[in-house]
Amino acid sequence: MDLTDRLMREKIEEIKNYAEQVLKQPRFEHSVRTAETCMALCRRFGLDDGKGYLAGIGHDICKQESDIVIVSLSMSDGFPVSEVERKKPALLHGRAAATVLKNYFNITDEEILEAVRNHTFGKAGMCDLAKVLFIADKIEPGREHVTESYLQKFDNMTLDEMTYCILKENIEYVTSKGKLVSQASLDFLRSLEQEKVK
Ligand SMILES: [Fe+2]
Ligand SMILES: [Fe+2]
Repeated sequence: MDLTDRLMREKIEEIKNYAEQVLKQPRFEHSVRTAETCMALCRRFGLDDGKGYLAGIGHDICKQESDIVIVSLSMSDGFPVSEVERKKPALLHGRAAATVLKNYFNITDEEILEAVRNHTFGKAGMCDLAKVLFIADKIEPGREHVTESYLQKFDNMTLDEMTYCILKENIEYVTSKGKLVSQASLDFLRSLEQEKVK
């Protein structure tokens, strides 16, 4: 499956139109930039760029839903709710988005669903497409700290090295704001550290 695939392109258009309708303009534009960054990273790391674009354009489609809608959509995926998520249901917006993509847009590709579901915190052992979306969401060019020189440091990194670096920065940022770091992110960091020493 790639971007030249007609069905894939139609599906992307459908989800993009939906995102444009339900999201405020800045959030929609963030989604487009995330999708484009995700697609570029997929090409760099030899992954399916169509799947990357689709995951990017769909990752925040539930971001502006109410807490009650987000919780009820995310509950249906069967995964447990963490302490951090219980305190702030909006953090479940990735899980809710994966449910919408699956149930309303008939996206059955498990890599896409895993990527969207885990884009906020990451998850130990998640697939490469999920790592790429996790990265793209944090380094799309609209982010204030993302300058050309910031991006240069990733030039020669492998996907795992880049994921590790961005996850570590993300954890440091959350900590500096006095917020609780999710267990999923800490587990993800540890799993990447173990990969490094192998
Ligand atoms: Fe998000
Ligand atoms: Fe996002």
